[in-house]
Amino acid sequence: MDFTPVDPRTREFVAGLPKAELHLHIEGTLTPELRWTLAARNGIAQRHPDIQSLKAAMAFEAPDAPSYLTKFLAAYYEGIEVLRTAEDFRDITVAYLARCKEENVLYAELSFDPQAHTTRGVAIDAVMEGLAEGRRIGRATHGIETNLILCINRDRPIDTAMDALVAARPFRDEIVGFGLDSDELNNPPIKFREVYDRARSEGYRLTAHCDVDQPATRENIRQCLDILRVERIDHGINAIEEPSLVDDIRARGITLTACPTWRPIDRAPRRVDRIRVMRELGLKVTLNSDDPGLFSSGTLGRMLPAVAVAGDFSDREMGEFMINAFEGAWIDRELRDAFVARTRDYLARAAV
Ligand code: ADE
Ligand code: ZN
Repeated sequence: MDFTPVDPRTREFVAGLPKAELHLHIEGTLTPELRWTLAARNGIAQRHPDIQSLKAAMAFEAPDAPSYLTKFLAAYYEGIEVLRTAEDFRDITVAYLARCKEENVLYAELSFDPQAHTTRGVAIDAVMEGLAEGRRIGRATHGIETNLILCINRDRPIDTAMDALVAARPFRDEIVGFGLDSDELNNPPIKFREVYDRARSEGYRLTAHCDVDQPATRENIRQCLDILRVERIDHGINAIEEPSLVDDIRARGITLTACPTWRPIDRAPRRVDRIRVMRELGLKVTLNSDDPGLFSSGTLGRMLPAVAVAGDFSDREMGEFMINAFEGAWIDRELRDAFVARTRDYLARAAV
């Protein structure tokens, strides 16, 4: 449900704004509807009798982080069991990129979780083939540029993280970045030092989740900076609580991919006040939809008008979030400059 009233002018401005998404789990774009289609196609029984029951179950109550994240991830992993074949990975990607086209999202970096699939017996080749085909169709049909980020699930054994990196070697050219996601509780970044050292030596761009309000969040952000030596942090909002983190993030030009998403149990965008503080501190912050198939906020273009209103962000500020995203994107200079120029041109024409 959306409870934030949005005026038509804001809606129109945001609709036309060129957009980039840097923090999106492609598996997290699985809507209940697509889940049902794929479950039927693959003959996978669902424990919820119908889509409405699933949606009702997703409105679970849990105290805020970290318990919510743990419960959320259980639902996420249960849902993505319907992804079995290359066609499934193709179809989920094409469905998302069709949505990007509708919402004027010009560029998206798609995180994916290989361990969540290979541990269920899905071959990495099927995952990669489906993602590649989906991206090819997305570019040919809708003109959307994409890149892939291989994410390690931090709550799985460390040796399986290295295995996932090794298994991705034949697909190295198709994957721009390396990240860390899933349950942060008791899974600090330092656990992944060796895997990150290897990913860095293989030329991957590096990011890692520091989810919001996790118990060890400031220590984990520090480890991401100094041990994993990332160039982006996914979320990272709690950095504003510690001046030395703010100083280092700013000095190193690190982009923070914030997610003002809202859940079925929320009535409005979350984290907008802290995102404003991030801006005021001079941090490069972007706005992202994270898991649009599961959150009530949905996809980026759907989410942003309510974020503009709830955060009281001006048109110029909304434009600056998108410029931050294009500038923090893992693309070559020429493409990046073209996206930024297009965004500046839109802002100039909108006279903001
Ligand atoms: N994997 C998928 N969605 C995630 C999230 N919101 N946080 C951490 N890991 C995730
Ligand atoms: Zn995420």
